[in-house]
Amino acid sequence: MNFVVLTIFPEMFTPFWENGMIKRAIEGKHISASAVDIRQFASDRHRTTDDRPYGGGAGMVMKPEPLAEAIRAAKKSSPFSRTVLMTPQGRRFSQPLAHELAGEEGVIFVCGRYEGVDERIFSGYIDDEISIGDYVLTGGELPAMIVIDAVARLLPGVLGGSDSAEKDSFSEGLLEHAHFTRPREFEGHGVPEVLLSGDHRAIERWRTETSLIRTFLKRPDLLENRRFTPREIEILRKWCAGIERIIEAQSLPGAGSLSGGE
Ligand code: ADE
Repeated sequence: MNFVVLTIFPEMFTPFWENGMIKRAIEGKHISASAVDIRQFASDRHRTTDDRPYGGGAGMVMKPEPLAEAIRAAKKSSPFSRTVLMTPQGRRFSQPLAHELAGEEGVIFVCGRYEGVDERIFSGYIDDEISIGDYVLTGGELPAMIVIDAVARLLPGVLGGSDSAEKDSFSEGLLEHAHFTRPREFEGHGVPEVLLSGDHRAIERWRTETSLIRTFLKRPDLLENRRFTPREIEILRKWCAGIERIIEAQSLPGAGSLSGGE
Protein backbone atom coordinates (compact mmCIF):
# COMPACT_ATOMS: atom_id res chain seq x y z
CA MET A 1 0.00 0.00 0.00
CA ASN A 2 1.28 3.45 -0.87
CA PHE A 3 1.01 6.44 1.49
CA VAL A 4 1.79 9.92 0.23
CA VAL A 5 1.51 12.88 2.60
CA LEU A 6 1.21 16.41 1.26
CA THR A 7 2.36 18.85 3.90
CA ILE A 8 4.32 22.05 4.42
CA PHE A 9 6.28 20.21 7.15
CA PRO A 10 7.60 17.06 5.45
CA GLU A 11 10.46 16.77 7.95
CA MET A 12 7.91 15.95 10.69
CA PHE A 13 7.53 12.56 9.00
CA THR A 14 11.24 11.58 8.93
CA PRO A 15 11.26 10.10 12.47
CA PHE A 16 7.88 8.52 11.80
CA TRP A 17 9.12 6.63 8.72
CA GLU A 18 12.38 5.73 10.46
CA ASN A 19 11.17 4.01 13.60
CA GLY A 20 9.27 0.99 14.85
CA MET A 21 6.59 -0.83 12.96
CA ILE A 22 6.40 1.72 10.12
CA LYS A 23 10.12 1.40 9.46
CA ARG A 24 9.84 -2.41 9.35
CA ALA A 25 6.78 -2.21 7.08
CA ILE A 26 8.73 0.00 4.64
CA GLU A 27 11.80 -2.23 4.78
CA GLY A 28 9.64 -5.32 4.25
CA LYS A 29 8.01 -3.58 1.24
CA HIS A 30 4.54 -3.96 2.76
CA ILE A 31 4.09 -0.21 2.41
CA SER A 32 5.79 2.65 0.63
CA ALA A 33 5.61 6.09 2.18
CA SER A 34 6.71 9.61 1.40
CA ALA A 35 6.07 13.14 2.58
CA VAL A 36 5.98 15.78 -0.14
CA ASP A 37 6.46 19.49 0.50
CA ILE A 38 3.47 21.46 -0.82
CA ARG A 39 5.73 24.53 -1.05
CA GLN A 40 7.55 23.04 -4.01
CA PHE A 41 4.31 23.43 -5.99
CA ALA A 42 3.94 27.14 -5.17
CA SER A 43 4.80 29.28 -8.17
CA ASP A 44 5.84 32.57 -6.56
CA ARG A 45 9.32 33.55 -5.40
CA HIS A 46 8.42 33.11 -1.71
CA ARG A 47 6.76 29.73 -2.23
CA THR A 48 3.57 31.01 -0.61
CA THR A 49 1.03 28.36 0.37
CA ASP A 50 -1.42 30.50 2.38
CA ASP A 51 -3.18 33.85 2.07
CA ARG A 52 -5.69 36.10 3.86
CA PRO A 53 -9.35 35.09 3.67
CA TYR A 54 -11.69 36.92 1.30
CA GLY A 55 -14.26 38.75 3.40
CA GLY A 56 -11.77 39.39 6.15
CA GLY A 57 -11.41 37.73 9.51
CA ALA A 58 -8.68 36.09 11.52
CA GLY A 59 -6.21 33.50 10.29
CA MET A 60 -4.90 32.39 6.95
CA VAL A 61 -6.28 30.02 4.34
CA MET A 62 -4.29 27.48 2.32
CA LYS A 63 -4.18 28.57 -1.32
CA PRO A 64 -5.80 26.24 -3.84
CA GLU A 65 -3.20 26.25 -6.64
CA PRO A 66 -0.20 24.71 -4.80
CA LEU A 67 -2.54 22.13 -3.20
CA ALA A 68 -4.10 21.24 -6.56
CA GLU A 69 -0.65 20.92 -8.18
CA ALA A 70 0.63 18.75 -5.32
CA ILE A 71 -2.43 16.47 -5.49
CA ARG A 72 -2.18 16.22 -9.30
CA ALA A 73 1.49 15.19 -9.04
CA ALA A 74 0.73 12.62 -6.33
CA LYS A 75 -2.18 11.20 -8.37
CA LYS A 76 0.08 10.88 -11.40
CA SER A 77 2.38 8.46 -9.58
CA SER A 78 -0.42 6.85 -7.55
CA PRO A 79 -3.56 7.09 -9.75
CA PHE A 80 -5.80 4.70 -7.76
CA SER A 81 -5.17 6.25 -4.35
CA ARG A 82 -7.92 7.84 -2.26
CA THR A 83 -7.22 11.52 -1.56
CA VAL A 84 -8.07 12.36 2.03
CA LEU A 85 -8.07 15.78 3.65
CA MET A 86 -7.28 15.65 7.38
CA THR A 87 -9.68 18.07 9.05
CA PRO A 88 -11.73 18.28 12.27
CA GLN A 89 -14.78 18.54 9.98
CA GLY A 90 -14.23 15.06 8.52
CA ARG A 91 -15.69 11.62 9.24
CA ARG A 92 -14.62 10.41 12.65
CA PHE A 93 -11.68 7.99 12.38
CA SER A 94 -12.37 4.53 13.84
CA GLN A 95 -11.23 0.92 13.56
CA PRO A 96 -13.82 0.13 10.83
CA LEU A 97 -12.57 3.15 8.87
CA ALA A 98 -8.97 1.90 9.30
CA HIS A 99 -10.08 -1.43 7.77
CA GLU A 100 -11.83 0.41 4.96
CA LEU A 101 -8.66 2.37 4.09
CA ALA A 102 -6.54 -0.78 4.35
CA GLY A 103 -8.48 -2.04 1.31
CA GLU A 104 -7.21 0.86 -0.84
CA GLU A 105 -4.18 0.71 -3.14
CA GLY A 106 -2.97 3.90 -1.57
CA VAL A 107 -3.94 7.04 0.31
CA ILE A 108 -2.83 10.59 -0.41
CA PHE A 109 -3.15 12.64 2.78
CA VAL A 110 -3.59 16.38 2.48
CA CYS A 111 -2.54 18.07 5.71
CA GLY A 112 -4.31 21.35 6.25
CA ARG A 113 -2.76 24.14 8.34
CA TYR A 114 -4.01 27.55 9.43
CA GLU A 115 -7.76 28.18 9.38
CA GLY A 116 -8.44 25.68 6.62
CA VAL A 117 -8.12 25.16 2.89
CA ASP A 118 -9.71 27.11 0.06
CA GLU A 119 -13.20 25.64 -0.48
CA ARG A 120 -12.66 25.21 -4.22
CA ILE A 121 -10.19 22.38 -3.60
CA PHE A 122 -13.03 20.04 -2.59
CA SER A 123 -14.53 19.69 -6.05
CA GLY A 124 -12.31 17.44 -8.08
CA TYR A 125 -9.39 16.99 -5.70
CA ILE A 126 -10.63 15.55 -2.38
CA ASP A 127 -12.34 12.14 -2.12
CA ASP A 128 -12.77 12.01 1.63
CA GLU A 129 -12.32 14.05 4.82
CA ILE A 130 -11.20 12.44 8.08
CA SER A 131 -11.07 13.77 11.63
CA ILE A 132 -9.29 11.97 14.47
CA GLY A 133 -11.63 13.45 17.08
CA ASP A 134 -13.56 16.49 18.21
CA TYR A 135 -10.63 18.73 19.01
CA VAL A 136 -8.62 21.13 16.88
CA LEU A 137 -4.91 20.62 16.26
CA THR A 138 -2.55 23.03 14.54
CA GLY A 139 -2.40 20.85 11.45
CA GLY A 140 -3.23 17.53 9.83
CA GLU A 141 0.25 16.02 10.17
CA LEU A 142 -0.23 14.22 13.51
CA PRO A 143 -3.70 13.01 12.45
CA ALA A 144 -2.21 11.63 9.20
CA MET A 145 0.43 9.74 11.21
CA ILE A 146 -2.27 8.26 13.42
CA VAL A 147 -4.28 7.07 10.45
CA ILE A 148 -1.20 5.64 8.68
CA ASP A 149 -0.15 3.79 11.84
CA ALA A 150 -3.62 2.29 12.37
CA VAL A 151 -3.97 1.28 8.71
CA ALA A 152 -0.43 -0.07 8.15
CA ARG A 153 -0.64 -2.51 11.05
CA LEU A 154 -3.71 -4.12 9.46
CA LEU A 155 -1.88 -4.99 6.24
CA PRO A 156 -0.83 -8.60 5.76
CA GLY A 157 2.70 -9.26 7.01
CA VAL A 158 3.18 -5.98 8.85
CA LEU A 159 2.64 -7.42 12.34
CA GLY A 160 4.97 -10.32 11.61
CA GLY A 161 2.52 -13.12 10.88
CA SER A 162 0.81 -13.05 14.28
CA ASP A 163 -2.96 -12.78 14.48
CA SER A 164 -2.73 -9.80 16.82
CA ALA A 165 -4.56 -7.38 14.51
CA GLU A 166 -7.67 -9.61 14.53
CA LYS A 167 -7.54 -9.85 18.31
CA ASP A 168 -7.24 -6.07 18.82
CA SER A 169 -9.42 -3.98 21.00
CA PHE A 170 -12.41 -2.95 18.84
CA SER A 171 -11.78 -5.52 16.08
CA GLU A 172 -14.28 -7.84 17.68
CA GLY A 173 -16.30 -4.96 19.07
CA LEU A 174 -14.91 -5.42 22.58
CA LEU A 175 -11.89 -4.05 24.41
CA GLU A 176 -8.97 -6.44 24.60
CA HIS A 177 -8.56 -8.78 27.58
CA ALA A 178 -6.01 -8.14 30.37
CA HIS A 179 -2.36 -9.04 29.69
CA PHE A 180 0.36 -10.29 32.05
CA THR A 181 4.05 -11.13 31.56
CA ARG A 182 7.00 -11.89 33.85
CA PRO A 183 7.73 -11.39 36.71
CA ARG A 184 5.13 -13.66 38.29
CA GLU A 185 4.95 -11.31 41.29
CA PHE A 186 5.05 -7.50 40.86
CA GLU A 187 4.76 -5.14 43.85
CA GLY A 188 2.64 -7.68 45.71
CA HIS A 189 0.38 -8.46 42.73
CA GLY A 190 0.40 -11.95 41.27
CA VAL A 191 -0.82 -13.34 37.95
CA PRO A 192 -4.29 -14.99 37.66
CA GLU A 193 -3.80 -18.71 38.29
CA VAL A 194 -5.70 -19.70 35.15
CA LEU A 195 -3.01 -18.13 32.96
CA LEU A 196 -0.42 -20.43 34.53
CA SER A 197 -2.60 -23.53 34.23
CA GLY A 198 -1.79 -24.47 30.63
CA ASP A 199 -5.54 -25.12 30.13
CA HIS A 200 -6.08 -23.30 26.84
CA ARG A 201 -9.88 -23.56 26.88
CA ALA A 202 -10.02 -22.12 30.40
CA ILE A 203 -7.60 -19.35 29.38
CA GLU A 204 -9.75 -18.50 26.35
CA ARG A 205 -12.88 -18.39 28.59
CA TRP A 206 -11.08 -16.15 31.09
CA ARG A 207 -9.97 -13.81 28.28
CA THR A 208 -13.49 -13.50 26.90
CA GLU A 209 -14.74 -12.76 30.39
CA THR A 210 -12.15 -10.05 31.17
CA SER A 211 -12.69 -8.55 27.77
CA LEU A 212 -16.43 -8.31 28.40
CA ILE A 213 -15.96 -6.93 31.94
CA ARG A 214 -13.55 -4.26 30.75
CA THR A 215 -15.85 -3.20 27.95
CA PHE A 216 -18.80 -3.03 30.35
CA LEU A 217 -16.84 -0.92 32.87
CA LYS A 218 -14.85 1.34 30.52
CA ARG A 219 -16.89 1.56 27.31
CA PRO A 220 -20.48 0.38 27.92
CA ASP A 221 -21.50 2.21 24.73
CA LEU A 222 -19.73 -0.52 22.72
CA LEU A 223 -22.14 -3.13 24.12
CA GLU A 224 -25.31 -1.28 23.24
CA ASN A 225 -25.79 -2.59 19.70
CA ARG A 226 -23.75 -5.74 20.07
CA ARG A 227 -24.98 -9.18 18.98
CA PHE A 228 -23.66 -11.26 21.85
CA THR A 229 -22.34 -14.77 21.28
CA PRO A 230 -23.95 -17.60 23.31
CA ARG A 231 -20.78 -17.74 25.41
CA GLU A 232 -21.02 -14.00 26.17
CA ILE A 233 -24.68 -14.30 27.11
CA GLU A 234 -23.75 -17.12 29.49
CA ILE A 235 -21.11 -14.85 31.11
CA LEU A 236 -23.54 -11.91 31.39
CA ARG A 237 -26.22 -14.19 32.96
CA LYS A 238 -23.64 -15.45 35.48
CA TRP A 239 -22.85 -11.85 36.54
CA CYS A 240 -26.54 -10.97 36.74
CA ALA A 241 -27.12 -13.96 39.01
CA GLY A 242 -24.10 -12.92 41.14
CA ILE A 243 -25.36 -9.32 41.44
CA GLU A 244 -28.91 -10.54 42.27
CA ARG A 245 -27.43 -12.69 45.07
CA ILE A 246 -25.59 -9.67 46.53
CA ILE A 247 -28.76 -7.54 46.41
CA GLU A 248 -30.89 -10.28 47.95
CA ALA A 249 -28.37 -10.73 50.78
CA GLN A 250 -28.94 -7.02 51.55
CA SER A 251 -32.63 -7.61 52.26
CA LEU A 252 -31.92 -10.32 54.85
CA PRO A 253 -32.43 -9.26 58.51
CA GLY A 254 -29.30 -7.60 59.91
CA ALA A 255 -27.74 -6.95 56.47
CA GLY A 256 -26.59 -3.47 55.41
CA SER A 257 -26.02 -2.18 58.97
CA LEU A 258 -22.32 -1.45 58.24
CA SER A 259 -23.17 0.72 55.24
CA GLY A 260 -25.76 2.70 57.21
CA GLY A 261 -28.65 1.52 54.94
CA GLU A 262 -32.34 1.75 55.85
N1 ADE B 1 -6.49 19.02 11.79
C1 ADE B 1 -6.69 19.76 12.89
N2 ADE B 1 -7.40 19.10 13.81
C2 ADE B 1 -7.68 17.88 13.27
C3 ADE B 1 -8.42 16.77 13.72
N3 ADE B 1 -9.00 16.73 14.92
N4 ADE B 1 -8.50 15.69 12.91
C4 ADE B 1 -7.94 15.72 11.68
N5 ADE B 1 -7.25 16.76 11.20
C5 ADE B 1 -7.12 17.83 11.98
